Amino acid sequence: MNKVFAVVAAATLSTSLFAADGAAIYKSKCVGCHGADGSKVIAALGVKPVNTPEVKKMGAAGVSDLVAKGKNKMPAFAGKLSPEEISAVSAYVLTLK
Ligand code: HEC
Repeated sequence: MNKVFAVVAAATLSTSLFAADGAAIYKSKCVGCHGADGSKVIAALGVKPVNTPEVKKMGAAGVSDLVAKGKNKMPAFAGKLSPEEISAVSAYVLTLK
């Protein structure tokens, strides 16, 4: 029984180590400007909420493109995050309500 648990725990751990974790990336790279739920506004920087229907309309490809290239005061993340991490964090942004 304990052995089965250990195998399951190890499998879960390796998944979180090797697959890009969008929620974790969002927490470390995006929360400062966009807030935990994506609703933060910083007028001085032009930060807009990212939990909006407008962002949902951009879709996964549109958000990934914006995150990679940046826009105005939004920093570009290409080079700082791998393409896999950019897709993961963009998919996560689209789940924010
Ligand atoms: C230094 C602050 C800052 C950080 C860090 C930041 N952003 Fe932004 N973000 C902005 C600003 C400013 C805008 C508005 C850009 C514009 O349209 O002028 C923006 C816009 C966006 C938009 C588009 C919103 C819209 O309605 O057009 C998305 C999506 C987004 N950010 C996602 C992210 C993600 C994902 C991360 C983390 C990988 C991130 N941002 C990190 C400042 C930031």
